[in-house]
Amino acid sequence: MRAHVAIHLEQWFLDYVRPFINGNGASEVLEIKRDHCRRVAEDMTGIARDLGLAEGDIHTARILGWLHDVGRFPQYAQYKTLRDGQSVDHGKAGLEVLDSAKVLMICEPADREIIRTGTGCHNRHTLPDDMTADVRRFVLMVRDADKLDIMQTLYQFWKNDEIKCHPELILELNLEGPVSPRVLADIRARRSISYAHIKSLADFFLTQVSWVYDLNFRPSYQRLAQRRLLEQAAEVLPQETIVQAEVAAAAQHVRERL
Ligand SMILES: [Fe+2]
Repeated sequence: MRAHVAIHLEQWFLDYVRPFINGNGASEVLEIKRDHCRRVAEDMTGIARDLGLAEGDIHTARILGWLHDVGRFPQYAQYKTLRDGQSVDHGKAGLEVLDSAKVLMICEPADREIIRTGTGCHNRHTLPDDMTADVRRFVLMVRDADKLDIMQTLYQFWKNDEIKCHPELILELNLEGPVSPRVLADIRARRSISYAHIKSLADFFLTQVSWVYDLNFRPSYQRLAQRRLLEQAAEVLPQETIVQAEVAAAAQHVRERL
């Protein structure tokens, strides 16, 4: 992607989301989401650089970071929830936004394919297997960058006692409940945990721990370690031995990938 195309798309995104944040019924949740997109774009740039991608591909990565959650804006405006199960698939919704705005017409076809597929599939439980290797690489990058920022942001909210102000951000979960047996069994078996099984804040943080088995690139593991994201999640989790043993196993998995 050429630099001027990337600048145009970044500006388009900021113009598109502004009315959702500043308009009537202004939403602090969507302001938080816009800032999430900015940080994911920054991490996409860093990860792409660390992977040695060409300058044009670094622009493409950054723009996928900006755009991946564009579907969150109409989703929350219409349904007042971030729970896909109770509203719409926000990946698909994002793809519809991009297509109906025709904003990707400015891109080369290969970049358009990356941004469309990356936006549409970034939140899929499993990825479709009909993607080209090139598209898949960007989709995996944005899934990593997304997870890194969610881990950092939710910990920060927990630490500053702000979670109660924005229950949407933790999908309206029970703040006090224990780790659910199903979630614990899934992480112990290294199965990915379905959002449908997450009942408590502890489940959500244990799910974040399980994401270390689902990162795809060394630069992602390096960022996770530098930012102490696992240690932070461990602080939120119950001190029970069985739970902290999973954190220790996850930390070992990360160390082996640095
Ligand atoms: Fe998302």
